[in-house]
Amino acid sequence: MPRTSSRPEQFLSILRSEPGYISGQDIAEKVGISGSAVWKQIRRLREYGYAIESLHGTGYRLAGQTDLPLPWELTRMLTTSFVGKRVIYREVADSTQSLAMALAEKDQSSHGAVVIAEQQESGRGRLKRKWLSPKGGLWLSVVLKPRIPVSGITLLPFVAALAVCAAIREGTKLDARLKWPNDVMIAGKKVAGILLNVSAEAQQINYAVIGIGVNANVDSSAIASRLGSKLLQQITSIRDELGRDANRLQLATLVLEKIESCYLELEQKGARAIIQAWKKNSDMLGHRVAVMQNGRTIHQGVAADVNEDGSLLIHTDSSGDVSVVSGDIHVRY
Ligand code: BTN
Repeated sequence: MPRTSSRPEQFLSILRSEPGYISGQDIAEKVGISGSAVWKQIRRLREYGYAIESLHGTGYRLAGQTDLPLPWELTRMLTTSFVGKRVIYREVADSTQSLAMALAEKDQSSHGAVVIAEQQESGRGRLKRKWLSPKGGLWLSVVLKPRIPVSGITLLPFVAALAVCAAIREGTKLDARLKWPNDVMIAGKKVAGILLNVSAEAQQINYAVIGIGVNANVDSSAIASRLGSKLLQQITSIRDELGRDANRLQLATLVLEKIESCYLELEQKGARAIIQAWKKNSDMLGHRVAVMQNGRTIHQGVAADVNEDGSLLIHTDSSGDVSVVSGDIHVRY
């Protein structure tokens, strides 16, 4: 069944089909609403970041695009086959992860659905940590109903981290790199993180929700000072690195397209292809690392490899070779 278009979509399609100005009266007739309702909708579109010029006695003209990751813009831009076919957008959410999990629970056909929020009030990070999510970031969750064996679940965060790293590189030309297990770094500072929630039975994955947090146009020093002593590693943002704002609509589009292509690669080619691509985009192998769990250093040594199940192989100083499945890593470059 074709999706019915929303009011903003109706307006945008009318404005886009008109190279010059179109009168409020013509818009009102096309949409079947009053003149004052047209004016309110134009005001709303401007709040969404569209540049709409108005000329007294002549009408309105679309003069510039928004860079907000609005659902109708994402759906228009995406060339994917399932990721982002449905986008739920909130100006404020507790956590997109909780919303996406609730959707996955109740809706069988939510494979590829995306929940995105401008701001999260209770953003969640790995290992039950808080994730500060002010306006300007890219905070989104993707629902997957994967057709991969349960053993492949550990690879999903690698898929997502790889996708985000590639999207940042392509969209901003910044030198984004991966740090185990699934942090995206720029110049040794964290710019994005991945959270995975899964519902699975012995032989079957019911659903997986991949949460993606990118410090896009946020002030990383403000986040760092709010985290204070809880800050585990240095953080940065795309804006801080570029010295200007990134286009979040373009970035979200790239992230979602790359999530789909990396996920299909996992389905079709298996773990090895994903881990190899992950390693190519990481510069931590061969460096000395400390493995931290619950605030304690449990191993020190050299990060030697990432195994096909996603665990990190370390040549430790005192316990031989150890494969680590979770925790935080401090890398010495
Ligand atoms: C990490 O600790 O590195 C993972 C952070 C994941 C944050 C994202 S933001 C969108 C989604 N919703 C959440 O509440 N968390 C994830």
